[in-house]
Amino acid sequence: MKISKVLVVYYTRTGNTEKMARAIAEGIESAGAEAVLKSVYSVRNEDILEADAIIAGSPTQNKRVPSKMMAFINDMKDLELDGKTGAAFGSYGWSGEAVGILNDELEKIGIKLADKGLRIKRTPKDKDLDRCRALGKRVAEAAS
Ligand SMILES: Cc1cc2nc3c(=O)[nH]c(=O)nc-3n(C[C@H](O)[C@H](O)[C@H](O)COP(=O)(O)O)c2cc1C
Repeated sequence: MKISKVLVVYYTRTGNTEKMARAIAEGIESAGAEAVLKSVYSVRNEDILEADAIIAGSPTQNKRVPSKMMAFINDMKDLELDGKTGAAFGSYGWSGEAVGILNDELEKIGIKLADKGLRIKRTPKDKDLDRCRALGKRVAEAAS
């Protein structure tokens, strides 16, 4: 059977969302799938095209998703995304809108949500990282 490939792509400013991304990637691997972990600055079109599922993460900044991540989602809509699933995640400080916005944006470009997503306040603690691993595992299992 083909091993599913799950892309975890993130934007981070102070490292919290990146910590979540690393734990999500661990969860994906624990499900026997392949995790491809990329910053939004280094992700390539091939990473998107080759992925069965795409998990996108960003912190909330000024009640929004930072423009670099929004540009990434916008650029993705020109690619062939048929059949791909996805989910969103991100760290926040007080209001935490980014995950909800990412969910909507992913659905708008035709990615079917495999999970309601996960937001964690500030720096993820051990129990939060476990929730990140569980998210990665769930999405990977849904993609297989
Ligand atoms: C310029 C700026 C604006 C922010 N605006 C918000 C906001 O509107 N709502 C919120 O919940 N958190 C806000 N935060 C807090 C960040 O989301 C929080 O610090 C998060 O942990 C950062 O994640 P990162 O380490 O992945 O960059 C803001 C942080 C910065 C630096």
